[in-house]
Amino acid sequence: MQFNEIKEKDNKYLFQNYGRLEVAFDHGKGMYLYDVDGKEYMDLVAGIAVNSLGHSHPKWVAAMQEQVARLCHVSNLYHIKEQAIAAEKIASVTPGDLNRVLFVNSGAEANEAALKLAVRSTGRKKVLSALNGFHGRTAAALGATGQPKYQQTFEPLIAQSFQYFDYNDIEGLKALMDKDVAAVLLEPLQGEGGVNPGNPEFFKTVRDICTDNGSLMIVDEVQTGMGRTGKWFGIDNFGVVPDIISMAKALGSGMPIGAIATTDELYGTLSPGTHGTTFGGNPLVTASASVTIDIMKEERLVENSYEMGAYWRDEISKIESDEIVDIRGLGLITGIEMRTKANDFRKYCLENGVLVNVCHGNTVRLIPPLIIGKQHCDVLIGLLRNFLE
Ligand SMILES: Cc1ncc(COP(=O)(O)O)c(C=O)c1O
Repeated sequence: MQFNEIKEKDNKYLFQNYGRLEVAFDHGKGMYLYDVDGKEYMDLVAGIAVNSLGHSHPKWVAAMQEQVARLCHVSNLYHIKEQAIAAEKIASVTPGDLNRVLFVNSGAEANEAALKLAVRSTGRKKVLSALNGFHGRTAAALGATGQPKYQQTFEPLIAQSFQYFDYNDIEGLKALMDKDVAAVLLEPLQGEGGVNPGNPEFFKTVRDICTDNGSLMIVDEVQTGMGRTGKWFGIDNFGVVPDIISMAKALGSGMPIGAIATTDELYGTLSPGTHGTTFGGNPLVTASASVTIDIMKEERLVENSYEMGAYWRDEISKIESDEIVDIRGLGLITGIEMRTKANDFRKYCLENGVLVNVCHGNTVRLIPPLIIGKQHCDVLIGLLRNFLE
């Protein structure tokens, strides 16, 4: 099908709730995507931090083909072998003793589950989260998302349980803390909010304050998890162990899956009947999570994320231009804040066969597959130099 035909059907039959770029893809391989007209693009977006193995990784494809042919869905009425295996693999990479796993279908749902667990296990009503954060579009996740632009017109659906403080501001958090706070929910690095890394001291203090106050510390690793920041989880950069981690995106290499991990002490409050989902953790998506973790370990993708991220930011920092305001990031999530030209740069990259993303107005966000090599990083650096000249 030609691009124009796809666009026509899209305009006629789909909700128009996304601002889509003028391209539709047919297939992918490794670092590259190919559009319906056969043009090649180097992918530095990875489906918004999802395709960490690159596209169509042969081992992942084989595992999915085998699983689809054998068993795709049975529901949580029964024990699920693939779910149990995936939970054990997740527990092998989570920090501390976060070795109890619940599967859901997305990042927002993972945060919903984390919030329900926190409220139920503490018996408290309030949740504190950071301004400029992003936790998803469902009702409670949207409530936790301290950005009015996402909440506007949906207020009737949002619980009044949330209060917000400035990210990395310990005094702001302390001012809101009381014995009714069930949890503090934070991203280790604000992704959608413009690639703002957390401050290690701030996170250590949040841990102490939560412990002293009997509140839970929930870390949203939907975007930062699974090696994206050069450690298995973003919070590992700060040497802090939270009470609950939510994850999704790269966990399933494109299969829709989310999960939370917590401790043996906490998981029990979500007893039978208190929470659940039909699809959550079905054999196909959990087989995907397992093979994803296996490949990440075999190919040392977490280490590669650390090394390539450091290389990239070093090289980008050498570019002298008034247009670049700041370069931030951890591992393979990098933000290049520009004065005015982030969207022009995205367009320039697209024309030159490279996909980059822009978030929070004027920040170019680089979130490539974790298989990226120096040669790919150098292509982007060359484009950035040319663009700025
Ligand atoms: C930190 C964070 N939390 C939650 C979400 C929501 O995840 P999903 O879109 O899978 O619901 C996102 C999505 O971008 C995210 O970046």
